[in-house]
Amino acid sequence: MAIDPHAAPAGNYASYPSLAGRTVFITGGADGVGRALVEEFAAQGAVVSFADIQVDKAHETIASCEGAATTPTFYEVDLVDIAALQEAVAAATKAMGSIEVLVNNAASDDRHTWEEVTPEYWDDRLNTNLRHYFFAIQAVVPGMLAAETGSIINIGSSSYMMQEDFFPGYAIAKSGVEGITRTLARTFGPHGVRVNTVLPGWVATERQLEKWWSPEGEAGTLSDQAIKRRIYPKEFAQMVLFLAADDGAACTAQEFLVDGGRR
Ligand SMILES: NC(=O)c1ccc[n+]([C@@H]2O[C@H](COP(=O)([O-])OP(=O)(O)OC[C@H]3O[C@@H](n4cnc5c(N)ncnc54)[C@H](O)[C@@H]3O)[C@@H](O)[C@H]2O)c1
Repeated sequence: MAIDPHAAPAGNYASYPSLAGRTVFITGGADGVGRALVEEFAAQGAVVSFADIQVDKAHETIASCEGAATTPTFYEVDLVDIAALQEAVAAATKAMGSIEVLVNNAASDDRHTWEEVTPEYWDDRLNTNLRHYFFAIQAVVPGMLAAETGSIINIGSSSYMMQEDFFPGYAIAKSGVEGITRTLARTFGPHGVRVNTVLPGWVATERQLEKWWSPEGEAGTLSDQAIKRRIYPKEFAQMVLFLAADDGAACTAQEFLVDGGRR
């Protein structure tokens, strides 16, 4: 089921002057929520680099930013390969200057049962959904500490809070995202660097609608939500923009849910 990635209820969304010219590195920007993040930061005039494994989709993201204030730069990276991630961060830093905002977003919510999890698949789930978050932070944070300012936004998932048990390796990895946020917010806070988690509930991306959508599933989600409609990537991105901008300067070590009041 194809959806319009720009779909969202009509709204007069905010512009943040502090985001103009701000350097932003986003993982998983080729599709879904990540694409909306790249588009929204580019529209704000931020200087955006993004890393992803999907080359064709990444070019679609760049094309979708046509007419935005800035054009994003793509780095082809398998984030399971930490050395490749570190190289991409170094290249992006060289090209656009020290990174001021990091959005750790890439993940994969493939379904599996607890019986199917081998030690190798366990490692794969953690490497795909958690490990690169830490190492992206480790790569960007020296520049933030030197500048005494920075915003790191980790995209989590409310799936483990909702006790969704159809992808234990993913949900368990996602619970660790908040551990990274809370631990490192304390470490970096005295030096002006903020770390927060933003958690989607169910956000209507192309992959979600193509792979996992069913009438019953959507009815169940909407029954749980206080807001009785789909949540769109563009809406989710607004919370991330706020935390990246000066407007979010007093927020750190927190979890912000954008889930239509589901949890
Ligand atoms: N959409 C939802 O309903 C939902 C719900 C809960 C949490 N989330 C979270 O939101 C974030 C974005 O999810 P989404 O729905 O947009 O997913 P998506 O699958 O649409 O997009 C994820 C992007 O990450 C990239 N990616 C995945 N593994 C990679 C790897 N090893 N190397 C490089 N790139 C890789 C993919 O290529 C893709 O472009 C994730 O952190 C996810 O856990 C989404």
